[in-house]
Amino acid sequence: MRKRVRPTEHSDGENVSSSFRMQKKTTVCQEKKGLASKFWFWVKSGAFALCAIFIMMPILEELPEIIRQRVYYHRIRAPFVFDLSHPAELELNHTINMYLEPEEGISLGIWHTVPDDKWKEAQGKDSAWYHRSLKDGSPVIIYLHGRTQTRAAKHRIGVVNVLSSIGCHVLSMDYRGFGDSTGKPTEEVLTKDAVWLHRWAKENSGGSRVLIWGHSLGSGVATNTAVRLMEQGVLVDAVILEGSFKNVQMYWPQNPFDRYSSKIKRLILRDEVANDVIFPNDENVKKMRSPLLFLHSEDDHLTTLRNAEQMYQAALSVQGDKRVRMVTFEGFLGYLHMGLYKDPRLPAIIKNFVVTTEEMS
Ligand SMILES: *[C@@H]1O[C@H](CO)[C@@H](O)[C@H](O)[C@H]1NC(C)=O
Repeated sequence: MRKRVRPTEHSDGENVSSSFRMQKKTTVCQEKKGLASKFWFWVKSGAFALCAIFIMMPILEELPEIIRQRVYYHRIRAPFVFDLSHPAELELNHTINMYLEPEEGISLGIWHTVPDDKWKEAQGKDSAWYHRSLKDGSPVIIYLHGRTQTRAAKHRIGVVNVLSSIGCHVLSMDYRGFGDSTGKPTEEVLTKDAVWLHRWAKENSGGSRVLIWGHSLGSGVATNTAVRLMEQGVLVDAVILEGSFKNVQMYWPQNPFDRYSSKIKRLILRDEVANDVIFPNDENVKKMRSPLLFLHSEDDHLTTLRNAEQMYQAALSVQGDKRVRMVTFEGFLGYLHMGLYKDPRLPAIIKNFVVTTEEMS
């Protein structure tokens, strides 16, 4: 569009050379101007692209999740979605998928993984074998997951494998509305489901110890469950809280970008769990009388270490250092909010906690 001033266009007669010189100067100047506007064009485009990426990122990040959730909400089976009924295909070859009904019309998808020294024996076995094996005296751990995805998420399978490797049964549940479970999630029904599963595990394991592991939002379900059971006169054998938060208001990330992106996510994804929920971990840990283990990565970017430490201190002052412990993982390891299952020290840490809390009860 922009016209270039050519020296020849304006050279008329006498002062050709001086005019030429002058014009040449102008040309250089114009070219500079051209370069400058090009420069600004790219700066503006770049800034625009950055803005677009900034706005889109939280959405793009969740895209596979949106697809998965929509698919499961509408009960459509699609080939690109994990088949939750075949855990063996997800590196869990000693696991059976089952559906339990905590109340009429509600079906919860649950995996039962046996201790991994039984993995060979478990091959090709049916639900009756798994059901019998739950009574073998090994501790049972109920795994309560965080607020997105399903029991098939990689870091959840990672934890299940660690717990199985130290000789525990694991019951990994998708709450209502998650995965292939029916119903709609609310704080009340998530807690109800976990309380129900705890009772089921006690009854069907012949009274084995039943521990509860809660990760992230699941830590809120875990402490709610422990408090609810206490009100019913039942003391949970032990509780492990991984990446826990004080309550849902504090759960929302502290740094501006994360706060912004979770706001957008909530807006767009209509996160059903995030509205009208409290999950008061900070209050619950003061009421609880079960042995407690806090696990937290120093570099956790979603639930801060500081909040977990404050809850640990609060629980410690109620129950003492024999019953309440905390293990943190160095920030340079890069575990963030869900990677601590990778730590080679974890099996020994959990085994030690399971054994010492057994001596207490
Ligand atoms: C089955 O799982 C166990 C426990 O995780 C593992 O040690 C074993 O190698 C697996 N076997 C096969 C054939 O994948």
